[in-house]
Amino acid sequence: MTALTIQTLAPERDAVHLGRTLELAQRGSGRTSPNPLVGAVVVKDGRPIGEGFHSGPGEAHAEAAALGACGEDPAGATLYVSLEPCAHHGRTPPCVEAILAAGVERVVIASDDPSAMASGRGPELLRGGGVEVGWAGEEVARSARLLNQPFRKHALTGRPLVVFKSALTLDGRVATRTGDSRWISSEESRARVHRWRAEADAVAVGIGTAIADDPLLTVRVEGAVEATRAPRRVVFDSRARLPARSRLVQSAADAPVILICSPAAPRAAREILAAAGVEVIVSEGEDEAARVGAGLDALGDRGVQSLLLEGGPRLGGAFLDAGEIDALRVFVAPILAGGRDARGVLEGRGVASIADADRALAVEVERIGDDTLIDARVREW
Ligand SMILES: NC(=O)c1ccc[n+]([C@@H]2O[C@H](COP(=O)([O-])OP(=O)(O)OC[C@H]3O[C@@H](n4cnc5c(N)ncnc54)[C@H](OP(=O)(O)O)[C@@H]3O)[C@@H](O)[C@H]2O)c1
Repeated sequence: MTALTIQTLAPERDAVHLGRTLELAQRGSGRTSPNPLVGAVVVKDGRPIGEGFHSGPGEAHAEAAALGACGEDPAGATLYVSLEPCAHHGRTPPCVEAILAAGVERVVIASDDPSAMASGRGPELLRGGGVEVGWAGEEVARSARLLNQPFRKHALTGRPLVVFKSALTLDGRVATRTGDSRWISSEESRARVHRWRAEADAVAVGIGTAIADDPLLTVRVEGAVEATRAPRRVVFDSRARLPARSRLVQSAADAPVILICSPAAPRAAREILAAAGVEVIVSEGEDEAARVGAGLDALGDRGVQSLLLEGGPRLGGAFLDAGEIDALRVFVAPILAGGRDARGVLEGRGVASIADADRALAVEVERIGDDTLIDARVREW
């Protein structure tokens, strides 16, 4: 085999091993926040000798897990990793130190880490330590970035990634003309929503939905998640109207409830809710879209990286106007509601012309029971 052939084949081999790191990373799905999903493979003489992934805060990082799992000495090996190795002391020691100590010769990285403490520092230290550092091609890099959208958006903007979820009738209504929406989607679809809740850092609704539906917003899937991963339940409620007898407030001791209100909310109402165990956040903003941004900043400050927004149309429209819907998941149920006054999915100000409308970057369609789930990615981080 000529040297030229080897050179041509190497990127393909790298892509295969990097693909494996992405598979491994996904094993931590829904469990690693505030940390990213990361997978790693150690390859020596063309053979994988150890693999690992990050399984949650306080647990070993993927690189350390893979090095620790090596069946033979990793000195001189190549380490493939889905995210750039860290250089800082967090809950665990820096991965760069472990890689240098193991005598790894080459590190190939699938995607960058945009957080302030990383941003290239790890790769630089590796190079300084005599390790050859390579990066994945764009296709693999993008797949790796897509694994960590909540982590990336939070690192880049301080705000959580927002997934807007809704159930609509075949004719595009989210409720009947009287506001009834239970249940538009099937039991199977609603079970899927509970799985998404289990993976999110927080779940949010507007006060209109909180009053109309009195939702609990908890995760009710057996074995889906340990109590520590119960998502925070958030209500956007400028005037602190959330009734103290609502199921959300009544269950505040079981799973945290956050209420985002404006400075104009009556002090007495805020105090009653706070006394009932609700965390009341006061955030300002000139209009509804600006208040969405301020609310997301406040959630981001509290470590919320992913938010499942469960409606309704008015709050959802404000998120759209604010440019803060990163993905949409809509269940279309095979029922017809009609009614001029029956509400659509997203309200707000909206765009004036189709030319100005946001276009989804990618759309996936899945049948769930009788429903059709449309999962659309609108923004990438
Ligand atoms: N099919 C579905 O998937 C689904 C899901 C959810 C809801 N729904 C239905 O939708 C209806 C309720 O929707 P809705 O539009 O009336 O209520 P909503 O969107 O849940 O809540 C709207 C309210 O949120 C408050 N709010 C606080 N901050 C806001 C901000 N930054 N921007 C916008 N609003 C903000 C506003 O009241 P304040 O100004 O007083 O704060 C506003 O009136 C119900 O019929 C419900 O059944 C259907």
